[in-house]
Amino acid sequence: MSDKVYYFETLKFLDKRKKLKEAISIAHPNFALVKYWGKNDTEENQPAMSSVSVTIDSLISKTKISENSSSKDLKWSLNGREQNDLNRILPTINYLSNLYGTKDNIQIESNNNFPTAAGLASSASGIASLVTAFERYYDLQLPIEEKIKACMLGSGSAPRSLLGGFVLMDHLDHFRCSQILERTEWQLNILVCITSAQEKIISSRQAMEISRKTSPHYGKWLDINSSHIRQAIRFIKAKDLLGLGRVSEENCDFMHKVINSSVPSITYKNRMTEMCIETVKQLRERGHQLFYTVDAGPQVKIICEQKTSKIIKDAILRQTIVPQIIDASIGMPPQSL
Ligand code: PMV
Repeated sequence: MSDKVYYFETLKFLDKRKKLKEAISIAHPNFALVKYWGKNDTEENQPAMSSVSVTIDSLISKTKISENSSSKDLKWSLNGREQNDLNRILPTINYLSNLYGTKDNIQIESNNNFPTAAGLASSASGIASLVTAFERYYDLQLPIEEKIKACMLGSGSAPRSLLGGFVLMDHLDHFRCSQILERTEWQLNILVCITSAQEKIISSRQAMEISRKTSPHYGKWLDINSSHIRQAIRFIKAKDLLGLGRVSEENCDFMHKVINSSVPSITYKNRMTEMCIETVKQLRERGHQLFYTVDAGPQVKIICEQKTSKIIKDAILRQTIVPQIIDASIGMPPQSL
């Protein structure tokens, strides 16, 4: 079906739909094990490479959509604060509203149960929960391709939060997201070490553009992507934690080399980040199976076996000065409540 025919078919179908009084949905963030850093297309916000992630269960973004009876405007509050700048959600809302064929006055309330914009993928879970709540509010059954597009307009990593477990987002196949393993198939723990709850110094969207334009390592970063993706899929399917850790840490270190070598240089890690990484390496030398990953922020995510999770958490708290560790395991897709 051509895009145009599909659009009109969708409108006809949507005309018959009712909307609910309110809709509440939740989604979880996802942490990339093979990361994307750099865009192909800044307008459509499309990543220049594929990525592999794991969805995280105890971190939650909740979005409520209801009718805004008090004004004609779209209203958005984040963690209880009304937002004047709607740029983070407007591309997604406009895309979905065009598909729906009308512009209603809606009120969007988003809340995270974890630090926002601090390198814990709150934009991914926030946008995925927004798209899910929108779908519920208008009683739609959006095709997955539309949900991926709507999510991507808000955050390049958000489409991966549409699925639970281990997820591949394939940039060579229209950013199709597929599940490599279901969460119950490989039960691991994720220790989220909060080294600082402050908002990041520069958004990932801005920083990755600087990297793409200025880092001398950006070309090599693009080149290694397909090999890292292949290896990560193989190790996940084989449930090989040390193998997955090797490729994931190499990928993470390379991304931070690209970020640091950008002009001007950008650094997301802090001293505590480095201490946690050092402790992870020591614990591995002592025979534990675990690895680290760090995104656009100073937090360290440790992926480990469930049976040794407590020993590892205690060691991190003892050997570093990390004030808070959040226990998590592998998460589910978004849900409407
Ligand atoms: O979701 P974005 O577009 O703001 O950027 C995500 C960037 C990383 O988290 C560092 C990597 C990734 O693949 O999630």
